[in-house]
Amino acid sequence: MSADKLTASWEELDQLGAEVSGKLNLRRAFADDPARFERYGAALNDLFVDYSKNLITDDVMAALGRLAKAANVEEWRDRMFAGDKINVTENRAVLHTALRNLDGGAIEVDGEDVMPAVKEVLARLKAFAARVHSGAWKGHTGKKITDVVNIGIGGSDLGPVMVNEALRPFHIDGIRCHFVSNVDGAHIVDTLKDLNAETTLFIIASKTFTTDETLTNAYSARDWLIKVLGDESAVAKHFVAVSTALDKVAAFGIDTDNAFGFWDWVGGRYSLWSAIGLPIILAVGYDKFEELLRGAQSMDNHFKTAPVETNIPMILALIGVWYRNVLGASSQAILPYDQHLSRLPAYLQQADMESNGKSVTRDGKAIAYETGPIIWGEPGTNGQHAFYQLIHQGTELIPVDFIVAANALHPLANHHDKLVSNCLAQAEALMRGKTEEEVRAELAGSDLSPAEIDVLAPQKVFAGNKPSTMILYKQLDPFTLGRLVAMYEHKIFVQGIIWNVNSYDQWGVELGKQLAKELLPMVEGREDAGSRDASTAGLIKRLHGLRG
Ligand code: F6P
Repeated sequence: MSADKLTASWEELDQLGAEVSGKLNLRRAFADDPARFERYGAALNDLFVDYSKNLITDDVMAALGRLAKAANVEEWRDRMFAGDKINVTENRAVLHTALRNLDGGAIEVDGEDVMPAVKEVLARLKAFAARVHSGAWKGHTGKKITDVVNIGIGGSDLGPVMVNEALRPFHIDGIRCHFVSNVDGAHIVDTLKDLNAETTLFIIASKTFTTDETLTNAYSARDWLIKVLGDESAVAKHFVAVSTALDKVAAFGIDTDNAFGFWDWVGGRYSLWSAIGLPIILAVGYDKFEELLRGAQSMDNHFKTAPVETNIPMILALIGVWYRNVLGASSQAILPYDQHLSRLPAYLQQADMESNGKSVTRDGKAIAYETGPIIWGEPGTNGQHAFYQLIHQGTELIPVDFIVAANALHPLANHHDKLVSNCLAQAEALMRGKTEEEVRAELAGSDLSPAEIDVLAPQKVFAGNKPSTMILYKQLDPFTLGRLVAMYEHKIFVQGIIWNVNSYDQWGVELGKQLAKELLPMVEGREDAGSRDASTAGLIKRLHGLRG
């Protein structure tokens, strides 16, 4: 990376930031430039990204392109796809793209092509799912499986949960997937309450097979099954596992014949494409899962080959950097106008915030600039009746991603037209706002007094000029979902490179885990909490008091 070029790029962007802030008016920009929409659009077949409603100019986009070049983003991208160990703090390759390299060539890690193993696991997953679907795989009492409970957390939960919900219209009849993640016993108790042990299959999903929440839930599920079926040998027909640590799976008591592996070069939050996707395969069938992989692969190919100026993940990433580092936005809203994408914001919270929520560089130096933003969101139109007020009239700059399909996969066309209209309306309202003049013209016809109008008018003004990006595609099918998720994965990658952080480790989750272990005996009352800080010790004392 050329430090001089990087410094020059940032200086150029800061200068442009000063020029654009408060001066670029999007309403005027659209009025002055009829080609703005055409110029700031990027497509991958039917998937179209309209970024024209962002606070950008040609100069800004060109300067962001130079920043990407100065940060060597393309070189890093090629290294990632080639299997270089770019996860330096864990000395690992970052190869979730290999999991969907269905038509590609060899990819080597430590001199060995990983593709045969990827394809072998896919074939085993396919065969296993076929047996479950056909009823050839039977529970302990000889019955067909009707319910699958995935026990996992973080990357071993959020991806399958999000996809399971997103692909609801493609669910296979006769099988339902449930997800237990929280160590809060309420989660597993509530889930098991309505299930029949004879027809329930548990998937214990954990990359490391050491995660306390997952193992605690797995043991409780095992106890429940044995209690209901009255036979410990029932476990073999009702538990399968997904992990990179097959020795630990065996130690738990699951036959490794019923375990599906993946590899340390698949990050947990990038693992839905691996065997972690087993609940997806059981929910929608292997062929649909393969379409999901193919969609992701098509975005991979686009990301690998398209020039920066038309490269969707690059564009999204660079605009995000512009807001975060130059215009001072601290968050990014993800607002899908699609009920089936209700878990996408939560999924992207882990993908983005666990990846780029860092404050040291790859080589361990303190960072003096902003890195990953806060990711949040809810599906529209619900959000409109909750938090949009703050986006429209609050004091925060909040860039928004709107996500919407041209076609619904349900028969209620009138609903979908209303949904799409609302989505477009919000983007338009954020951009154009409403001037005081327009407000006063509207109020002039009312029966309010001039004094009342003076008080009310400023409340009704929308400043506008609020940025948004619209992501529009034909329909939310497995292929498109694959493209969408891979698009965000690569956006996160590009930002991580520009911020010079390792997006593939997550040391920040460790301290809490360690302290929870230390505190457990104190919470249980087996150890004295006197050594802790006064607040923690005081709370534990109060907790015991409340327990009586
Ligand atoms: O604690 C964070 C984390 O390590 C995530 O990165 C990961 O997705 C999650 O825990 C679950 O880990 P595992 O799949 O090893 O159980």
